Amino acid sequence: MQKDTAIQVEKLHKSYGKLTAVQDISFSVRKNEIFGIVGPNGAGKTTTIECLEGLRSPDKGLVRVLGLDPQKNRRSLHERIGVQLQESRIASQIKVWEVLDLYTALYSRTVDYKDLLEKLQLSQVRSRFYSRLSGGQKQRLFIALSLINDPEIVFFDELTTGLDPQARRVIWDLVREVNESGKTVVLTTHFMEEAERLCDRVLIMDHGRIITLDSPENLVKKLGAEHKIIFSIKGRVQIESFNELATVEKVSVFRDKVTISGKDQRLLADVVNHLIERRIPYYDLQTQQPNLDDVFISLTGKEIRK
Ligand SMILES: Nc1ncnc2c1ncn2[C@@H]1O[C@H](COP(=O)(O)OP(=O)(O)OP(=O)(O)O)[C@@H](O)[C@H]1O
Ligand SMILES: [Mg+2]
Repeated sequence: MQKDTAIQVEKLHKSYGKLTAVQDISFSVRKNEIFGIVGPNGAGKTTTIECLEGLRSPDKGLVRVLGLDPQKNRRSLHERIGVQLQESRIASQIKVWEVLDLYTALYSRTVDYKDLLEKLQLSQVRSRFYSRLSGGQKQRLFIALSLINDPEIVFFDELTTGLDPQARRVIWDLVREVNESGKTVVLTTHFMEEAERLCDRVLIMDHGRIITLDSPENLVKKLGAEHKIIFSIKGRVQIESFNELATVEKVSVFRDKVTISGKDQRLLADVVNHLIERRIPYYDLQTQQPNLDDVFISLTGKEIRK
């Protein structure tokens, strides 16, 4: 295992009876990377992550996390990784600070959780019973618990499911901060925007197999999807001349809306220059760039199921 490798997976295979959840997948995660796993429901994300955390035993294949075998070295790995489970269950008649104290006692090295509560905006509910927390507060508590032992690698399974857009942004900032402090982050998400904004690399899986693995930028580039420039015009305007531009592949008009598409990054500059040169009156100009959603739909043939 190379020095800068945090996680190494080779031909990992896991079945539940007749159902094969993960089929011979291989990948590695670099130290200090934010690594995302995305895929439709049932793709095998949680199964994969749980094999890395030592919570599930693989049927076949090799898994090394910080150089350790999660099955054989579970105890020492437990001290060095943080785990936010997709479904965490905590007794309802226990207070927030009690859960934190309990988790603190499980590790030999811990951080002071006051800072975590502050950052996760949970300080005001520290004396509340777990059962009285909102879904989003519970989610943030699980994130706090996953960071309590100051782990080298932290696993977030469905990082922001159930959170409102504002809370999601708070978590994104926190994940970036966690990463900047030197930790490796492995996360699963159903939000392509989240994967695109946060992750250095994204692994797309479906039916237990890896479909692709690359940086969000490269995935979008490889897709070769179209950029679109959309603007409105008033009255009779000659727009055929746009076809003369080298970067333009298609011009279409619907009512007063013109859509110009092409794959070249210079399309926007060309179109705007042309509008100015020809003195074409336009308004409401917008651009549509291809994103990870387009990549996902193109590769899995489906919209991501939440
Ligand atoms: N304990 C289990 N026993 C039997 N089958 C299971 C078990 N856990 C998962 N599965 C099945 O294995 C497959 C992969 O499940 P997994 O939970 O890994 O998917 P996932 O990608 O995390 O899905 P989601 O997006 O819904 O969380 C699914 O078909 C699921 O029904
Ligand atoms: Mg899952």
